[in-house]
Amino acid sequence: MLRLDKFLSEAGVASRRQLRDIIRSGRVRVDGVAVTDYAFKFDETACRVTLDGEEISAGKQIVVMMNKLAGYITATEDPRKPTVMELLPEEYRKLQLKPIGRLDKETEGLLLFTNDGDLLHRIVSPRHAVEKVYYAEHEGVVTQDDIDQFAAGLRLRDGTECRPAKLESLELGKSLITVQEGKYHQVRRMMSARGMYVSYLKRIREGNLSLGDLEPGKVRRLSDEEIAMVVDRQNNE
Ligand code: URA
Repeated sequence: MLRLDKFLSEAGVASRRQLRDIIRSGRVRVDGVAVTDYAFKFDETACRVTLDGEEISAGKQIVVMMNKLAGYITATEDPRKPTVMELLPEEYRKLQLKPIGRLDKETEGLLLFTNDGDLLHRIVSPRHAVEKVYYAEHEGVVTQDDIDQFAAGLRLRDGTECRPAKLESLELGKSLITVQEGKYHQVRRMMSARGMYVSYLKRIREGNLSLGDLEPGKVRRLSDEEIAMVVDRQNNE
């Protein structure tokens, strides 16, 4: 037997305090019956719990989107530098989430986390060409030759060959770059190979998922539909 607020908190739905309000408002049902007492005890192995009609199960696959701040490294722990795990709110920290892919310390924007090892592996694997879109502020002027070189597959200064990518100039010193791989410092190195030093970089889209209006430093849990979008995309490739 488990308390309803504990069950929902362990499933990563919201913090214990937020959950009390959610439960009081009658949005949670246990076997179809609305329960407004957060201390309600039930058999979590036999009952079906829903929030706004969506089934919640403990140990469920969770995917969280973060709008990463600059200054945090993408790692689960580090003895010296602050990690992205420190940006995760309390209720997510105990869920054993791991970052999917990585952003450099100074890069901001969309970073996904999951507790599902299979999903993590499928998304990180280079066999799956997930499109990633970055907004960059940089020195220099984008020329048609730069755009063509990106499209043809750029060669970096150290000889590394990149897959075809898209470079789109928004205005002087501001561009969108779309890549299908995640080599070390890839976008910064691609721009620098064309003489354009990047001073600000933010990932704004990954596959079908956009950062949208998620505020800097904040996280939100993806809905089942959004997770299906990520998984479907992987399976179709
Ligand atoms: N390219 C970079 O240079 N840095 C990132 O963090 C991501 C892509």
